[in-house]
Amino acid sequence: SRPHLVAIDGPAGSGKSSVSRAVARRLGFDYLDTGAAYRALAWYVLSKKIDPADAPTVIAALGGFDYSIGIEPDRYYVQVGDTVVTDLIREPEVSAAVSAVAHIPEVRSYLTKLFRTIAAGSPRTGVVIEGRDITTVVAPEAEVRILLTASEEARMVRRSAEISTQSAETVAEQLRSRDRADSQVVEFMSAADGVITVDSTHLDFDQTIDAVIDVINTRR
Ligand code: C5P
Repeated sequence: SRPHLVAIDGPAGSGKSSVSRAVARRLGFDYLDTGAAYRALAWYVLSKKIDPADAPTVIAALGGFDYSIGIEPDRYYVQVGDTVVTDLIREPEVSAAVSAVAHIPEVRSYLTKLFRTIAAGSPRTGVVIEGRDITTVVAPEAEVRILLTASEEARMVRRSAEISTQSAETVAEQLRSRDRADSQVVEFMSAADGVITVDSTHLDFDQTIDAVIDVINTRR
């Protein structure tokens, strides 16, 4: 039978990825990080010396984009061809290029199909899918749909704690500019109809996981 779907959207720094993965682990579900695919494509495009804003060339490159991801929460990895890019896709150059590739409609429809195929193929009872447009576009039919938010200030603080190599101002500026660019493509700052908001501004990591699990338990 079809796996249960839990869709989680939210902006950068909301804790979305780590929370989604921890929730999946607790439920015995798989975990699909869709941002990682956009990042992997951005990495691939940069590795081919393609301008990420050159839509026709990026679209032409999709055919050679050999992408795989580990969806078991404890065996998470991201790979392009023979290269494991799990850490490389978190580099600032990739973060700076990712919104440009994510703007291209053909890229979005290509990856959306891929996400649906990966989720449908999950051998577990359920999948937590996390991104920007999961509750609205990728899996609007999901049994549970959550928008994980946090104040801009809380998100900046969390991101700078993660990235120790850059100043807090640099991290904040990069995050703001990515939010701005992303919000032109998908609406992820406010909850769509039927989507439940979990605000993690005043919650620590474990409390956020509990809040998400609570929503899932009342919805299932
Ligand atoms: O979640 P993360 O910050 O890793 O996502 C990286 C980028 O991928 C986002 O900034 C956005 O441009 C793009 N993205 C998207 N739709 C998704 C997930 C990510 O456009 N569902």
